Amino acid sequence: MATDDTQPADGTVYLVGSGPGDPELLTLKAKRLLEDADIVLHDKLPGPKIIDMLPDDGCIDVGKRAHGDRTPQWEINERLVELAREGKSVVRLKGGDSFVFGRGGEEATYLAEHGVPFEVVPAVTSAVAAPAVAGIPVTHRDHASSVSFVTGHEDPTKPESAVDWGALAATGGTIVVLMGVTRLPLYTEALREAGMDPDTPVALVERATWPGQQVATGTLETIVEARDEVDISPPAVTVIGGVAGTRESVVEFLRNDYTPSDQHSDENTDD
Ligand SMILES: C[S@@+](CC[C@H](N)C(=O)[O-])C[C@H]1O[C@@H](n2cnc3c(N)ncnc32)[C@H](O)[C@@H]1O
Repeated sequence: MATDDTQPADGTVYLVGSGPGDPELLTLKAKRLLEDADIVLHDKLPGPKIIDMLPDDGCIDVGKRAHGDRTPQWEINERLVELAREGKSVVRLKGGDSFVFGRGGEEATYLAEHGVPFEVVPAVTSAVAAPAVAGIPVTHRDHASSVSFVTGHEDPTKPESAVDWGALAATGGTIVVLMGVTRLPLYTEALREAGMDPDTPVALVERATWPGQQVATGTLETIVEARDEVDISPPAVTVIGGVAGTRESVVEFLRNDYTPSDQHSDENTDD
């Protein structure tokens, strides 16, 4: 059913990022809004610990529908508008930061077009946090003075690909790829073909700050093998560049420990 553009909304929608998954990395504001919300719409990416904190009633998983399909974005947009028009305080909870590959921008535009007041609550993005908890800084005075956040969702062999891997290779900075587990062989090859050193360090960080966090390391040439050996699956970020090699010198003393678990499921496949 199409929403009526002329109807005012008494409620407010909060576009809230959850951070990478450790509840202690929620912002104070996110925590307060989650406690005060009439209703929370979330998917699986906030991670099992944060999802467990949400109340059973007043909480809708919009990540998947009955037959395993994803709820289409238009349906989520309409739901947000309807709930705000019922006068509710609505939290739209996304993993990481809602405005980093989180479709928060589309939701904000839709809400504005439909006259619904909203607030954006920024958060710790996995693009920075996942490398960090694995001991990898995305910038480093000796290794990288720029960083690019890229989607690995697109097929680099297609001419219409929106990601210019050749241009990225030429920056000499760190490249952080989100949604890039499946297409790892394609874009590592594209970077090598663009002239990037095959020995460039690469790390994959899966389920950062979730139970069962895993890390695989290698180079542009060896990382696909390392991915398969460690059995990395989504959600994971790929860090490419000299910074990925610095992990080795700190890992012995790194205490970002996330308990291994059997939850190595395919619950989230944002890849
Ligand atoms: C649709 S994007 C959403 C990104 C999110 N808005 C953010 O700022 O982190 C989904 C991708 O984010 C990355 N991701 C999100 N949470 C993660 C985590 N805890 N550990 C590793 N990667 C994560 C993965 O690359 C995943 O495929």
